[in-house]
Amino acid sequence: MAKMSKRRKHIFLIGFSGSGKSTVGPLLAKRLRVTFIDTDDLIEQCFGKTIPEIFSQESEAAFRHAEAETVKELCLADYDFVAALGGGAFQDKNNRTQLQHNGIIIYLQCAVSEIYRRLQLTDSRPLLQVTPRKNESKRQAVLHRIKSLLRKRVTQYRTADIIISTTRRTPQEVVEIAAHKIRELYG
Ligand code: S3P
Repeated sequence: MAKMSKRRKHIFLIGFSGSGKSTVGPLLAKRLRVTFIDTDDLIEQCFGKTIPEIFSQESEAAFRHAEAETVKELCLADYDFVAALGGGAFQDKNNRTQLQHNGIIIYLQCAVSEIYRRLQLTDSRPLLQVTPRKNESKRQAVLHRIKSLLRKRVTQYRTADIIISTTRRTPQEVVEIAAHKIRELYG
């Protein structure tokens, strides 16, 4: 398997917001004794602004540009790490190609109802701030938005090297499955 010969262990966690990347990521990094990186954190530090501020005061395009630069830098890094990527990072073809060539991609899959449950208490996801249409509740509007974004993204997510469901699993259970699959597939 081509990826077995990789000098460095770069593990990229992909998946929709709320799928568990930022929770599982640090635990998996600890388990594998490597650094944990969250690309959204790096982008926030770079702008000196939160993600919602970057979207509202700059633009989504500025955010995506910074995200692509971050992906590029991570792919060139000469140390081992687990990185949690923002939910939209894998949609860009160029990002995807670089990630596929430079690491192991793990898709954390999660049921829509669970994503909604995990995200409903936060307003930190600009793409999920929606105004309900006529005769629609806020809940329906957010669920509708999650489903439509997920529909557009799932084909790409599913090209990951490893797919793990996080629905009804504890972060530690997901870490154990991930560590096992990484060992099984890549030694
Ligand atoms: C985004 C997901 C967010 C963040 C930004 C855009 C997306 O990250 O990168 O708000 O396009 O789905 P999380 O997946 O960590 O929520």
